[in-house]
Amino acid sequence: MDTPDLVALESEAMAALDAAQDEASLQTWRVAFLGRKGRLTAVLRSLKELSDAERREVGAASNQLKGRLESGFEARLRALQRSQAALLASERIDVTLPARPLPGGTLHPITLARRQVERVFRDMGFDVVEGPDVEWDHYNFDRLRIPADHPARDMWDTIWVDAVDEERDRRALLRTHTSPMQIRYMDEHQPPIRVIVPGTCYRYEATDATHEWMLTQVEGLVIDEGISFAHLKGTLESFVRRLFGEELETRFRCDYFPFVEPGAELAVRWHDRWLELLGCGMVHPEIIEAQGWDPERYTGFAFGMGVERLAMLQWGINDIRYFYQNDLRFLSQFRGS
Ligand code: DAH
Repeated sequence: MDTPDLVALESEAMAALDAAQDEASLQTWRVAFLGRKGRLTAVLRSLKELSDAERREVGAASNQLKGRLESGFEARLRALQRSQAALLASERIDVTLPARPLPGGTLHPITLARRQVERVFRDMGFDVVEGPDVEWDHYNFDRLRIPADHPARDMWDTIWVDAVDEERDRRALLRTHTSPMQIRYMDEHQPPIRVIVPGTCYRYEATDATHEWMLTQVEGLVIDEGISFAHLKGTLESFVRRLFGEELETRFRCDYFPFVEPGAELAVRWHDRWLELLGCGMVHPEIIEAQGWDPERYTGFAFGMGVERLAMLQWGINDIRYFYQNDLRFLSQFRGS
């Protein structure tokens, strides 16, 4: 019989040992080379077929090889275990650490103020509706008794939109106030009417600390039998008291708006000054009549307020421009729902 090639066996075994990347393949290797039916064991079993001299020589060499394979196995096993431990350590995560906070948003202060106003009027039984930001001059001016040549149109510098309805002789604009929704709402509803209309308005206007070209208004309209100026006063006074407290002093003064008669302005006493809060008045009888309702029977009141003004009062903000500069240092100071 040929003497077994122990050199080839060793280099094959060592190459396979290096290739084993985990403990399972290492165990497979051990079975293949050192196991009871393994390659080296086969060599040792075949020794009896050799001559005495060969047996001694090959036997000694095989036993030495066995020793080297065994210590090679041990070394490889330790190396694998070390690198696995290192990997685990490097991938270790501390599941008890608190999560990183997600930055939560806040509502815009004008949204907060607007919702406050809506809540108060909802509690008093008002509906809340919205209207279009792009409006016909028909609703924004004409139907509110502000005809084309009326000097009152000068009260609102207007941003016109490139859209004309030739047939009905109407031009589109960004609404300068929420009052046109009074008309749209009356076109769709019969008295009794109790509604507020929050919304954005736009004016062609230079900005400064108290003027913005874009602003938020809340319009109000009440129409029913027997509505008087006393209802107007009672409603608006309880509104401002709910916002600013029971002790608040209020003042009504005459003012002029073409769609009300009489018209008034409501001011509140705030830090020793009178601050104008809103315009209001009794709905002009011609407007009631134009809806086909008898102005002797149906009367009503209307009002319109600037939400930015309310918010500035409430939070002591001295420049209206902060609201739309989108500086988070400002905006994130307001919390609420
Ligand atoms: N629309 C007016 C403005 O923008 C505010 C106003 C005044 C609304 C009197 C009303 C009202 O409903 O009755 O200045």
